[in-house]
Amino acid sequence: MGFFAGSWLVLSSSLRIRTGPSRFLRSCRRSALAAFSPSFFLLIALLLSPGYAFSQTSSARPSPDPVINNPDLSAPGVEQKVDALLGRMNLEEKIGQLVQYSVGQPTGPGTGRTGDNDMIEKGEVGSLFNVTDAAKVNALQRIAIEKSRLHIPLIFGLDVIHGFRTTFPIPLGLSATWDPALVQQAARVAAREASASGVRWAFSPMVDIARDARWGRMAEGAGEDPFLGSAMARAFVRGYQGETLGAPDSLAACPKHFVGYGAAEGGRDYNSAEISQHTLRQIYLPPFHAALDAGAVTLMSSFNALDGVPASANPFTLTDILRNEWGFQGFVVSDWSSIGELIPHGIANDGATAAKKAFLAGVDMDMVSNLYHENLLNLVRSGQIPEPRIDEAVRRILRVKFALGLFDHPYTDESKQAAAMLQPDSIALARKTAEESFVLLRNSPVENHPLLPLPSKPGTVALIGPAADDPGNMLGCWQGMGRPQDVITLKTALTEKLGADHVRYARGSGYLHGSNADIAAAVEAATQSDLVILALGENAPEMTGEAASRAHLGLPGHQEKLLEEVVALGKPVVLILFSGRPLTLPWAFGHVPAVLAAWFPGVQAGPALTDILFGEANPSGRLTVSWPRSVGQEPLYYDALNTGRPADGVDLNHPPTDSKEKFLSRYIDEPNSPQFPFGFGLSYTEFRYGNVELSTNKLSAAQLASQLSPSAQESNPVLTVSADVTNTGTRAAEEVVQLYVRLQGTSVALPVRALKGFQRVSLSPGETRKVTFQLGPEAFAFWNINNQFTVEPAHVTIWIAPDSAHGQSATLDLTGPMN
Ligand code: BGC
Repeated sequence: MGFFAGSWLVLSSSLRIRTGPSRFLRSCRRSALAAFSPSFFLLIALLLSPGYAFSQTSSARPSPDPVINNPDLSAPGVEQKVDALLGRMNLEEKIGQLVQYSVGQPTGPGTGRTGDNDMIEKGEVGSLFNVTDAAKVNALQRIAIEKSRLHIPLIFGLDVIHGFRTTFPIPLGLSATWDPALVQQAARVAAREASASGVRWAFSPMVDIARDARWGRMAEGAGEDPFLGSAMARAFVRGYQGETLGAPDSLAACPKHFVGYGAAEGGRDYNSAEISQHTLRQIYLPPFHAALDAGAVTLMSSFNALDGVPASANPFTLTDILRNEWGFQGFVVSDWSSIGELIPHGIANDGATAAKKAFLAGVDMDMVSNLYHENLLNLVRSGQIPEPRIDEAVRRILRVKFALGLFDHPYTDESKQAAAMLQPDSIALARKTAEESFVLLRNSPVENHPLLPLPSKPGTVALIGPAADDPGNMLGCWQGMGRPQDVITLKTALTEKLGADHVRYARGSGYLHGSNADIAAAVEAATQSDLVILALGENAPEMTGEAASRAHLGLPGHQEKLLEEVVALGKPVVLILFSGRPLTLPWAFGHVPAVLAAWFPGVQAGPALTDILFGEANPSGRLTVSWPRSVGQEPLYYDALNTGRPADGVDLNHPPTDSKEKFLSRYIDEPNSPQFPFGFGLSYTEFRYGNVELSTNKLSAAQLASQLSPSAQESNPVLTVSADVTNTGTRAAEEVVQLYVRLQGTSVALPVRALKGFQRVSLSPGETRKVTFQLGPEAFAFWNINNQFTVEPAHVTIWIAPDSAHGQSATLDLTGPMN
């Protein structure tokens, strides 16, 4: 029932990218005028303006000394061009730059404002989104360039989340590769394809930390950890923005949702978050900082209230932190109608107040609420918003438009669009990212051998389940321009590999609905086969992503019944889980010999899966979220505090039998530990860890504190940590070697472990490699009791480990007077 209630929301959000007014479908001929770039019009306008010289100098201001400063935004000349243009703009035109609409859709409750052409011509809009075709983008851009008074180009945005036409694994899957270089390449492909279609702004990456699998948007991010999340944030930004933002194939990145959205209480989407300042700075802000540090030029504010203040009107996060502490020079866009939502949040009783609060807090651009359009003029005229504040917001937006080269090259070459899509190297990359994203959770012996990899001739295989031949589902929750016909499903790939005679396919069940007859047919197919592959899980468009929170995390519909009846036959069974979150499947993890988490793998789902199933590739994905045993454990994350009553050394598999077992931080009916820990994933080989060495066992805390740099990219190593990692098996493999740190004796309690490094290492059978990490001072730094990011004296344990629950450790001391 619940799924139906929510599904229209999801459908309507995925429709957003597909709806465009048919009038734009008409191809427009380029007029002679359009051959001139907007800079031309700008130049003429400026030369004709008597106030030109004045406006150029009078509005120049001392530039701040930013911590985060994208060189493209501060390139010589950009600020002068912005000032010159601002000097020419009237108030209405300035406000127009702060307004964004989704093409062809009514904007804002009750306004029904859809006349895109008219608005563009009047200069009432600065950005449009959900136009995905170069000809349509050009047609709209032509109105801005040729017909609006100041010829300011529009910036076209889109939710380019995990690919554009070449769809890669969902971001949670991409993060499970622990391979930022690969993720950067995937984002580059997305940028090439999207920009060829006229899109120059990706509403991505989603860098919200997600620690509760009930929250459907966990699928869209990099999981629970700020260190890994920061690495992935940087990779996405670098991939989208490329070498320089001005290149025609670069996209402006937009890390989102600022901030705390992933901490929605109860995992219920859009719900409020309560986050202490310590946790905000320690856990939720770092991926945003990393994304901006890597050069992201825009940012999206979020829907949720944070400590009672809606994030789209939160001066503390949007101004104090973002502008004053971080020196961000790009612009902030609200999330979809989140300015209008300040009214139901309860901090505004009318649109004017909502617009004023959001604007003064630091939201520069209004996504679809229509409230800036309706109210900013009066708010300025009545003295409630000073015009220089409007100028500042416009300046931030124009900076980005100049840096993207939109003034000089506003149009997209329509002739190159088709050829940019699905290029062979892009498809090969989609296959590799998918292979690296799969996490092998279980691989138990069947007749004395781990079930996987399968022999090349496994006999007849029964392929069962709703996800076995469902191309649309492989595209995940944000499908971009991905098309089902681009997808190779598991059924297609398996049939190609083994021959149709050796594959017996039975759907067995839908995701949510099924019948006993379908299950019986699947059981029959399994009975007649030598081996069973079950492809089960969630229906991505309905059950994952936005507005898809779940209170139950098992297999939906009849799938658990299907699973148990098939497994009861006693055949070897491989279960492949397709999902946007970990699923609580205690029975499966106790009874199914092989289980692979495949997330939603994208266009190359089938070939990537068969590569892994038959051992042509060795599983190397690792979990980026702790996998719960039961929903009651959520929120669940490895870098938790120890508490004053840790349950160390007690068997939590049974209820407490005495007071020593009872008065501990524990459940009486479930272990504390996850089903599978963060960082976990099996391989077809095994690894041994040993011999952890540190370059010193004493460091001065004060000295480390003095070496901290605001940009982690600039920090110098202060400690070398190494360990021997051996491939003890018979297959070549890649291992994700992880480094964790614990600090004890500090002014605030810190987690039992925190990730501070990772590397993907290739190892031949029998090979031992000394894996070395160089740690900078920030590996030991944290937000202390005085709200300072610093290093304090502490006892430190460092693990080099295959996951967050195991590994070999060594210790050192950070010296100095203890707090
Ligand atoms: C989502 C954003 C998205 C925006 C535009 C919102 O509902 O929260 O992540 O970028 O819509 O489509």
